[in-house]
Amino acid sequence: MKFMLHILGIFCCLCSCALGQNISVRPNVVNIGALFALNSTIGRAAKVAIAAAVNDINNDSSILAGTKLVVQMQDTNCSGFLGIVQVADLVEYYGWKLVTAVFIDDDYGRNGIAALGDELAKRKLKILYKAAIKPGAKKSEMAAVLVKATMMESRVFVLHANVDSGIAVFSLAYNLSMTSGGYVWIATDWLSSYLDSSPRLDMGLMSIMQGVLTLRLSIVAPEALNRKPSSPSNANKKLYTAIWPGETTTRPRGWVFPNNGNDLRIGIPNRVSYRQFVSVDPQTGVVTGFCIDVFVAAMNLLQYPVPYTFVPFGTGRENPSYTELIDKILTNEFDAVVGDIAIVTNRTKVVDFTQPYIGSGLVILTSVKKQSSIGWAFLQPFTIKMWCVTGMFFLIIGTVVWMLEHRVNDDFRGPPVKQAITVFWFSFSTLFFAHREDTRSTLGRFVIIIWLFVVLIIQSSYTASLTSILTVQHLSSPIKGIDSLIASDEPIGFQVGSFAESYLVNELGVSPSRLKSLGTPDQYKEALDLGPKQGGVAAIVDERPYIELFLSEHDKFAIVGSEFTKSGWGFAFPRDSPLAVDLSTAILTLSENGDLQRITDKWLTSGSSASPSDDLDADRLHVHNFAALFIICGLACIVALAIHAGILYRQYTLHVAAASGPLSAAGSSRSHRSSLRSFLSFADHREVEFHKSANKDHAAIAAGGSSSGVSFTSSNSTNTSMSR
Ligand code: SER
Repeated sequence: MKFMLHILGIFCCLCSCALGQNISVRPNVVNIGALFALNSTIGRAAKVAIAAAVNDINNDSSILAGTKLVVQMQDTNCSGFLGIVQVADLVEYYGWKLVTAVFIDDDYGRNGIAALGDELAKRKLKILYKAAIKPGAKKSEMAAVLVKATMMESRVFVLHANVDSGIAVFSLAYNLSMTSGGYVWIATDWLSSYLDSSPRLDMGLMSIMQGVLTLRLSIVAPEALNRKPSSPSNANKKLYTAIWPGETTTRPRGWVFPNNGNDLRIGIPNRVSYRQFVSVDPQTGVVTGFCIDVFVAAMNLLQYPVPYTFVPFGTGRENPSYTELIDKILTNEFDAVVGDIAIVTNRTKVVDFTQPYIGSGLVILTSVKKQSSIGWAFLQPFTIKMWCVTGMFFLIIGTVVWMLEHRVNDDFRGPPVKQAITVFWFSFSTLFFAHREDTRSTLGRFVIIIWLFVVLIIQSSYTASLTSILTVQHLSSPIKGIDSLIASDEPIGFQVGSFAESYLVNELGVSPSRLKSLGTPDQYKEALDLGPKQGGVAAIVDERPYIELFLSEHDKFAIVGSEFTKSGWGFAFPRDSPLAVDLSTAILTLSENGDLQRITDKWLTSGSSASPSDDLDADRLHVHNFAALFIICGLACIVALAIHAGILYRQYTLHVAAASGPLSAAGSSRSHRSSLRSFLSFADHREVEFHKSANKDHAAIAAGGSSSGVSFTSSNSTNTSMSR
């Protein structure tokens, strides 16, 4: 209400001024412009108050004597926290993650810092510590707050205070050596703009403050900067090179380790199995292993020294629980955990991981056996259908060749039993290219040459497939992958302490009663050898790096199916630890410069991780593998038979049916049957006899007599002729 009266007063004054200039000519309307940040708390309240005040003035004709007041309000589009946004942009631009906020603990200070927290959160940054100074605090109280702030990791201080308090805080910080190299001070907007121009400051302190307070580096006007979406890559936010405290152009890191003089306590698993990854010497306490080497190499790449001590975790009798190990970071017993720590969702919810330094997904390990022990292995290269189709084709080819050769080749003539045997013998002996019968007809040779090509392909494929079946190991277990493992009721092994146990139960829904913990590679082997029926396990679920090490020493086992989780191992740090970020960069450098590979080669011999063919069917040959060949061969037979039948029919009609023309003219069904018999008889006879008979007829016709009719007798003559 007070606010409204105040506004009313202002307008009355304004209008009197406007009207007072020429009272004799009273205008009907007085226009007044008003600029507000309508999106701010004050702006919103002011808008309503002004509207109400204008209404009151216009309703009371005694105030402006009939002149209408019009206030045109315009939004300045100013957020009200422009300085805060700029500060957050600056922190983001320089890559600092954590800031300490120094502010006077009043409404102005708290609101400003809350807004700063929001702006930083939008950029995934945060205020690590809020150094609140009581309004009117004594110098000693301010100093206590500042000294406490220096105990924190962050070295980026955002000062949000009015001019007098701001200068007092900064003078104190200067005396406490908090403005030297490594420190960054950023003042919120209007304090720093004041500092740019204030004639009130002692010149010495003024120059230090202007050097240290890193504002006004933007080459773009704040309004323009504010209109753009916030992004560090935004070209508009290009800043001039800053000269940092300590007269350096090197960007301050912005954080330090908490300055309590202690080493970082790095928890490591006191492993019992697979000690190539991490091992602690029980006598000397010396820590070695692949993971340790990677960690040490990465730490050596950091630009700053970090003192640390390894603290083993676990009884030393069995591998510790890795979940409990991670929890030690939450309870502050460890500052970080280093080792073969899988980066899994549950863990990433509570700690920060570095980039993975090795890939590790869960795989299934099971027993295998040699296929060669199976006596019927020779049948396995072909499927049953393939065997049947191949056998059928042998018979078809034998029959087709018999039909094509029968008239011209004495090898395919003789008593019916002999001919049947010849068909079988001939066709199956082509399998070994050992057929003794000659093929004399062109069509017969055409069919045979295609068939021999098909046989060649089938034979070499059979040999290749059989070789593969006999030499490659095959699973003795019905488990072929994660689906069949879940579906079966058989016991599953897992490594003691590993996340695999909770993953199997919680994610895959495997009953805990099926799970069996295994401590060492020897226990892995024993459990798989025994098998599910004798108290062992059907398969073991564990991470690939362990299984590969296991397989490098044991050859009766293999990985089945594919990796069913994709993960990796990283080093764990408390949430938002800047060390995790710097170590990730160091791990990437190790990976790019080849050091990571060298460490891997040193510790992890590449074992025979080749997974066996878990599916015999994959090696088998199916009919469809040879479909094209069979189709070509079948077509060749059909074409050859069609040509053969055509030639036969032509010969028959030209020379035989014509000669017996008067007989067939009767047209009865009996004559049809006799024509068929006559045709078949013609087809059954040797071609040479047909030629002889035809020659005789021609001679008789030439002599003026009639033909002797059709009369063929079977002959065992070896006389052959190539007619086609
Ligand atoms: N690598 C496993 C884990 O992180 C331990 O074996 O749980």
